[in-house]
Amino acid sequence: MPLPFLGEVLWNGVPNIPSGWTILKVVLAIMVVGLIKWASMGASNTSERQMHGKIIMITGGTSGIGAAIALSLAQRGAQLVLLVHQSPKDIFLVDYIEDLRERSGNELIYAEQVDLSSLYSIRQFATKWIDNAPPRRLDMIILCASTLTPPGKSRITTDEGIEETWMVNYLANFHLLSILSPAIRAQPPDRDIRIIFANCSSYTRSPPIKDGSEAMNKKEWSPSKAYSRSKLALTIFGQAFQKHLDAYRRPDGLPMNARVIFVDPGYSRTPGMRRWLTRGTLWGLGVYLVLWQNAWLFLKSSEGGAQSFLYAAMEATLGRGAGGKMIKECLEVNYARPDVKDENIAKKLWENSEKLIERVEREEAVKRALQKKEKEASEKSQAPKESAGATSATDSGTDGKKSKSRKQKKGK
Ligand SMILES: NC(=O)c1ccc[n+]([C@@H]2O[C@H](COP(=O)([O-])OP(=O)(O)OC[C@H]3O[C@@H](n4cnc5c(N)ncnc54)[C@H](OP(=O)(O)O)[C@@H]3O)[C@@H](O)[C@H]2O)c1
Repeated sequence: MPLPFLGEVLWNGVPNIPSGWTILKVVLAIMVVGLIKWASMGASNTSERQMHGKIIMITGGTSGIGAAIALSLAQRGAQLVLLVHQSPKDIFLVDYIEDLRERSGNELIYAEQVDLSSLYSIRQFATKWIDNAPPRRLDMIILCASTLTPPGKSRITTDEGIEETWMVNYLANFHLLSILSPAIRAQPPDRDIRIIFANCSSYTRSPPIKDGSEAMNKKEWSPSKAYSRSKLALTIFGQAFQKHLDAYRRPDGLPMNARVIFVDPGYSRTPGMRRWLTRGTLWGLGVYLVLWQNAWLFLKSSEGGAQSFLYAAMEATLGRGAGGKMIKECLEVNYARPDVKDENIAKKLWENSEKLIERVEREEAVKRALQKKEKEASEKSQAPKESAGATSATDSGTDGKKSKSRKQKKGK
């Protein structure tokens, strides 16, 4: 290498060296980029806590920030119960869990199928969880799952008829915690129980929550309003849930040891954020890929977004004193709006959420019962025909194959 370079210098003379001004400009540009990147990376968690033996339930642990939290906690030895909407037989899920186990060196990672867009699915899982004596160990619940409709897309309702953002981001957490509440309250007093909610600064831009019923109003809907409103409702509910826990008189007379903590992870490069930025379109994805360096520069990585969650999960001081704190950049911060702690709003929201759940669950139970009846009736009406068909085939003594294929169909 030096020889061709020396030859070049001898042959063509010394190459042009950029002027001092140009060098200064390049150095300044690198420094500015470095500074922006350093600022956008956010704070790192420096708290550590023994996680071996702890049982942590986590929603949204398959993607973005939730996946980064799951990996970090698994690496520290926690036993994870991932609540996922896929079937446990889904090959991508099986692959994901195998990979998580391999990367963390921790075999104690399990998945439970819970579709957060279905009240029925949540109830099925949560009632199964609490149906255990003595109560199952549960050290932490991390509620990280969320959905958001990309701008320009239309309003989606779940199969149960509830607006999807309200359901997944708020009502699912309300329903899950309401059912799990006895299991949380029954944990031994020496445990430090934490319920960590994923928040977002967008809650500050939400229209006020009157009683929650306005979230179902089609006229008032837009993707960003629906998302910010769901996060505001979640924040109000989280405060009320802490009060609900604190009001419980333990049989041993000891104080409540379960604390709610909110975390704002900051803007991060996750699949959810990508869906939002690209408006869920192919052309949007093209633009995103072309401008990827901007996302890299201004947004945190998923691991960066996970830092405040890890802080909330491990910082010792958060296991003492009052619950209901808000964490951002690994620091405790104040809530940016007063209605978050308004007891009247919280009461109305709680009551309306309960009413909505009760109504929808009753309607869905009736639907399921009708469907079951119809299925049984159609099976009954098919049975005589089949047995008649089977008899004639046997009687004629000619068509053994036919009767076998019918039986197979019925088995299916
Ligand atoms: N990213 C940001 O910039 C940012 C900023 C502020 C706050 N946050 C909050 O931080 C949390 C994590 O954000 P993220 O961007 O990492 O999220 P994400 O990439 O969009 O992942 C969302 C997770 O929720 C799960 N999920 C969605 N619908 C579900 C359902 N019906 N049942 C069960 N699980 C469901 C998804 O599962 P599948 O992947 O299987 O669908 C996925 O694991 C969210 O609560 C978000 O609001 C994020």
